[in-house]
Amino acid sequence: FHKITSKVLQDMKNSNEKITMLTAYDFSMARIFDEAGIDVLLVGDSAANVMAGYETTLPITLDHMIYHTQSVVRAVKRAMIVTDLPFGSYQGDSKQALASGIRLMKEAGAHALKLEGGEEILESVYRLIQAGIPVMGHLGLTPQSIFKFGSYTVRAKEEQEASALISNAHALQDAGCFSIVLEKIPAVLGKKVAEALHIPIIGIGAGKHVDGQVLVMHDMLGISKDFAPRFLRRYLDLYSQIANATTAYVSDVKAQKFPAEKEQY
Ligand code: KIV
Ligand code: NA
Repeated sequence: FHKITSKVLQDMKNSNEKITMLTAYDFSMARIFDEAGIDVLLVGDSAANVMAGYETTLPITLDHMIYHTQSVVRAVKRAMIVTDLPFGSYQGDSKQALASGIRLMKEAGAHALKLEGGEEILESVYRLIQAGIPVMGHLGLTPQSIFKFGSYTVRAKEEQEASALISNAHALQDAGCFSIVLEKIPAVLGKKVAEALHIPIIGIGAGKHVDGQVLVMHDMLGISKDFAPRFLRRYLDLYSQIANATTAYVSDVKAQKFPAEKEQY
């Protein structure tokens, strides 16, 4: 097999092969995903929610993202590893964006970075790309701006927001982004963007016509319990399976059924 790079992802789009992406935050899960053939692993700032239990993605720090990325990097042989620049590490200051990006590439070993936003972060995107760092964009629902939007509902349903999204996507492509994530937008808009742009468009709740799909691992594996948007397909019900295993262990220990004779020295 070959290592996945931005070039390989571009070839996939060009030959109509869908791109697969999942989030990962730790060594053990990243190894399973990589060996199972996932193309891209996203060290998402969703770690703030699913790993740390915060309500939003805002509290996670650059140091946290470095720790998670290092753990994933140690596991991966094939997948491309993309890490989110966390809230407060790039907005409004392209020099800070570059300094943050360099830490993630150098100390953590990320292969590429993802930033939320369009026009307003273009200078940061451009500076990172000039430094040789591959950048993935992220438009539509951008959770780092949750306090500006006020809700996690579907984005760009109105014509004005949809056309702003399209022009932002073009601006990111023109700045040199190798790919863009579109989150929670109408499928027709996802299709429009994927057809209009030459770079790969990865969707989460952006319909089937984009060039690839991404899901948060805890959602896709059914570990998170209360999160149930329409776009989510659960491939396992790990919450129940882990809970059942735990109660079985508890009752075995209480009943002195574990350990058995042959499980001791
Ligand atoms: O942090 C994350 O998990 C993400 C994906 C939802 C795209 O940014
Ligand atoms: Na994210």
